Amino acid sequence: MNYEVIEKRRRDLEGKVAIITGGASGIGAATAKLFVQNGAKVIVADIQDERGESLCKTLGEYDDAVRVSYVHCDVSSEADVKNVVDTAMSKYGKLDIMYCNAGVLGGLDLTIQSCDVGLLKRVMEVNVYGAFLGAKHAARVMIPAKTGVILFTASTATVVAGEGPHAYTASKHAVYGLMRNLNVELGPHGIRVNCVSPGAVLTPLLNNSLKIGNGVTEKILNVAMSKGGVSLLDPEEVARAAVFLSSDGAMSVSGLNFIVDKGGNTGKTNMSFSSGLKDLSRIFSFIK
Ligand SMILES: NC(=O)c1ccc[n+]([C@@H]2O[C@H](COP(=O)([O-])OP(=O)(O)OC[C@H]3O[C@@H](n4cnc5c(N)ncnc54)[C@H](O)[C@@H]3O)[C@@H](O)[C@H]2O)c1
Repeated sequence: MNYEVIEKRRRDLEGKVAIITGGASGIGAATAKLFVQNGAKVIVADIQDERGESLCKTLGEYDDAVRVSYVHCDVSSEADVKNVVDTAMSKYGKLDIMYCNAGVLGGLDLTIQSCDVGLLKRVMEVNVYGAFLGAKHAARVMIPAKTGVILFTASTATVVAGEGPHAYTASKHAVYGLMRNLNVELGPHGIRVNCVSPGAVLTPLLNNSLKIGNGVTEKILNVAMSKGGVSLLDPEEVARAAVFLSSDGAMSVSGLNFIVDKGGNTGKTNMSFSSGLKDLSRIFSFIK
């Protein structure tokens, strides 16, 4: 897409300053791109430095280089999270959008017996502590400004049981609960707090856990998921929801768990994704 085309698109985030954690890859990277295209100044915060820098370089070519930059930030470290928020403040003088998106899956084994405590802790550190710390430091600068948006990437694991590993599902329920509680505290300060909750998205998070190539994963999972009337999502489909929730168009939307799954999983128990995983395990017996 070239610069002229971008200019003609709606720019729903014109003038906004955003931090996207986990912004170097997958949903976060797709969101960084859409945020920049919509006129936002973006700080990509991640632990994958090379990937983050390279993304910012590519996105910088769409527009002037100051619109997008990379900051190393491990979301489980309070010092790192404080630093990225302080960087936004010193660079742009404000923070409009804190998108707490960084997350890990912790493997794809769905059984409690296989639960590894080390892995459980890491899932909680990144997904839950990361969300807490992001919200804490965003609120520190948003409360005095009396405005702001805090957005979390949760998951359809918050509404459908049995489709994700236990630690991951528990962590996303924690994020959902945090979002609702924060909404009560921060709403009176003019801060909107929401979750965007995707179904299965084809990103490294899924592919690295499956340890097989994109094409194969996609085919097998899509066949299984089609039985439930759904398919794998593209990261940009989630990014579009993040743009909406972060924009002034969503000015009255707060406390919402915004499900992005093509409608397949809402309100019913749809086991098509885990059935796809079982198909994969049968074919590739090494998947744990
Ligand atoms: N892919 C899916 O099917 C799916 C479904 C529902 C929700 N989600 C959620 O979406 C979010 C983004 O995941 P994705 O699918 O784009 O995967 P991804 O692996 O492509 O992106 C996750 C990013 O988070 C970063 N990250 C991991 N640990 C971090 C840490 N400690 N500090 C900072 N950054 C860290 C990674 O480096 C990576 O860039 C996650 O919260 C994930 O749980 C994903």
